[in-house]
Amino acid sequence: MVRVTVPATSANMGSGYDSIGIALELYNVIDLEESDHIDISDKNGQFVPKDARNLIYQCAKRVYDECGKPLSGLKIVEDCAIPQTRGLGSSSACTVAGILGANALLGDPLDRQAVIDLAATIEGHPDNSTPAILGGFCVALLENGHVHQVRVPMHSAIDFIVFIPDFKLSTEKARAALPKTIAHHDAVYNLARAALLAGSLTTGQLENLDVATGDCLHQPYRFSLIENGEDVVRGAKELGALGAYISGAGPSIVAMVYKGDRDYLSRAQAMCAEKYPHWKAVQLRCDEVGATVKRI
Ligand code: HSE
Repeated sequence: MVRVTVPATSANMGSGYDSIGIALELYNVIDLEESDHIDISDKNGQFVPKDARNLIYQCAKRVYDECGKPLSGLKIVEDCAIPQTRGLGSSSACTVAGILGANALLGDPLDRQAVIDLAATIEGHPDNSTPAILGGFCVALLENGHVHQVRVPMHSAIDFIVFIPDFKLSTEKARAALPKTIAHHDAVYNLARAALLAGSLTTGQLENLDVATGDCLHQPYRFSLIENGEDVVRGAKELGALGAYISGAGPSIVAMVYKGDRDYLSRAQAMCAEKYPHWKAVQLRCDEVGATVKRI
């Protein structure tokens, strides 16, 4: 049996739409072993498909198929802490778990880059799947089945406070809200900020983060789908965040804060309790390890 542990991820980080993401210290832990039938269970009693529609199973099967190996079934035990449809990379984590689990069961026929490419091809969001595999702060794009990626060192003075609502937003719906075309000046607005974001997170020029997380490609269109989303971003900044943005396709909101600001979390929790009872604030540090696989 193999155990795959995959971190949550926060994609886009405002300006880096479909290309920038970080891994966070919240994990899905998945055990897999070969079986003569499909046997899927969830340790936390969450709803997960228990048949061949299960995402982890489908991704594992894809690896078997691509390697030309027959698969009669898998025993999969899920222990998932990443909330579903909250913009924290839960489906990427399951995709990566299925691929890495199957790869390990088959004796590692896929190298690291092949895993990264397959995960992004299946999932469609290299800004989630790549940091889920590599950990840390990543820039990634998928072209012709290949992910061009770099894991960029991130300055150690940043903490992440994640505001998670009790309602869901599907990525499909959040993407359908976006326009098909954008103006040239909007493209320039974002590409300048995404470059500034990567440079500032690396060098620690944290005073740039508010401007660098600015975006006009996706967030303005998504706020209408997230009740109190704009209020939470504004409130997070008023509490002293360096920058705040919709995590992935939403609805969660991430605030980047100085590590030295030890009271930020309690101020954020007090704000939620007082003004936004459908939201909770939690601290999640950047995961520096990425997905791991071990035999148990
Ligand atoms: N970059 C993607 C989006 C992430 O914003 O739609 C989806 O998790």
